[in-house]
Formats: sequence, C-alpha cells, structure tokens
Amino acid sequence: MSRKPIIAGNWKMNLLQSEAKELFEGIKSFVKDYTAPQLPTVVIAPTFTSLCAVSSVRCDCGCGGNKISVAAQNCHWENSGAYTGEISVEMAKDAGCDYIIIGHSERRQYFSETDEMINKKAKAILAGGLIPIICCGETLEQREAGITDEHIATQIRAALSGISSEDVAKSVIAYEPIWAIGTGKTCDSVEANRVIKMIRNVVKEVSGSEAADSIRILYGGSVKPSTIEEQMSQSDIDGALVGGASLKADSFNEIIANTMKVAV
Ligand code: 13P
Repeated sequence: MSRKPIIAGNWKMNLLQSEAKELFEGIKSFVKDYTAPQLPTVVIAPTFTSLCAVSSVRCDCGCGGNKISVAAQNCHWENSGAYTGEISVEMAKDAGCDYIIIGHSERRQYFSETDEMINKKAKAILAGGLIPIICCGETLEQREAGITDEHIATQIRAALSGISSEDVAKSVIAYEPIWAIGTGKTCDSVEANRVIKMIRNVVKEVSGSEAADSIRILYGGSVKPSTIEEQMSQSDIDGALVGGASLKADSFNEIIANTMKVAV
C-alpha cells in the first residue's frame, strides 16, 4: 500500500502575520516548480491570527490550492458557544484549513488536555469534513521506565475511540517523542519506525487492516534536512511534523526536496 507522504510545518506560537506570509511565500515559490503528484502533501500550521493571511495567498498557480494545505494548531469540539479563547472546526474551515493538529504534547502539558478531550476534538474535526493530525508521544521518564509502547497505545486507543474505520483511514497520527521536541535530539529512525509500526498495529486492532494500511503516521521531534532522508527510508514513517526547521523557508524547502529523493 503506498501512502502519500506528508511534510507538515508546525509554526507553534511564532511569526506575526507579515512574517507568516513571507515565509509561506518562500515555501510557495519552491513548490511552484513541481506538479502536485511529485510533491508530498505539504501542510502549514500557522497561529490562528495568521491563518487567513496565509490562506489568502495559498496558491495562485492553478492547482486549486492543492500544493500547500493549511492546518490549525488546535480547535474546540463544540460548534459555537461560551468558550472564550477557543475556535471551532467550522471556524478553522472558514479560515482555509483542511487539517487540524490535536493533542500536541505542548497542549497536553501546558493546557491540561486529556485523551478524552482529544477524542472529542478528533470526532468534531472529522464530522466537520477536516482531517485531524493526532499527536502522541512519551516523556523521557516513560521511555526510561520501559512504558513507551503501553503509553502510546493508550493514547491512540483513546483518541480513536468511537470513530469509524473510514474516518480513521483518512486521519493522520504524529508520533512525537517529547524528549526529541525542540532538543536537537532526534529519535533514532529505526526506533521511530518501530514505534510507528506498533501504532499501526494498534490502529489495526481498533479499526481493521484497511484503516491501518491507509492512515498516515508521521514522525516529529527535531526533524532537519539532514535527518529526513533516513527517516523517510523507513517502512512505516509516512512523513514529518516539523517545528523549528519549518520556521525558515530554506530548511523547510530542503526537507521537502529531500523527501522527494526518497519517496512520493
Ligand atoms: P521541533 O521540530 O522543533 O523539535 O518540534 C517538533 C514539534 O513539536 C512539531 O509539532
């Protein structure tokens, strides 16, 4: 089964609108030289305040915006109401998003997001016709205690609970070991592939083989232009969720270019 790779840039809480637009233009000018089938699926997740700025310059090459998709970094599961500071799936869609990242470890850690909340968000995103990028990952303590697989399997089972196999098949999971995020320390690609295979087995158990074969599972955590080729050469790594290296057009474009050397 061949799965189209995804290279996603998570800009986190960085860049003002003008800076976001400039960086986006820098990525756009790189991808314009390729046809959509040559490229991995490129997804950019700016801050909420830059979503419209970025979506408005998304693509004018006649590809219908296919070359670069836009993602929100979070959403609420309710459609509307008294939830100060939150945005709904429909609002993200209205701002040009096709994807929404949920369950990032920074949201779990600093905003007390639980597996149950992440499951509600995943359901709302799929019901709204968008695609969730569901993050999971272990802390260094959990890894050292030998409970990585158990912890991640619990996160995935909870996130996918009550979601149809068809919807699971279209979803995206990002395995991001917390100790590798922003530390410059990537998880060894053979080990990342092993964990991702384990995640695929959990998906198979929960949603069947078709969903497990279709779902795209990314690796995230200090991905750089120099690491992506080896990561993309692994059997089960379907792409990357990139933080720091997505904040410069040169390094992000090089990640896309190096991905095309291996896969697509
Ligand atoms: P870094 O690439 O900066 O380690 O961040 C990874 C990440 O958290 C992407 O969501």
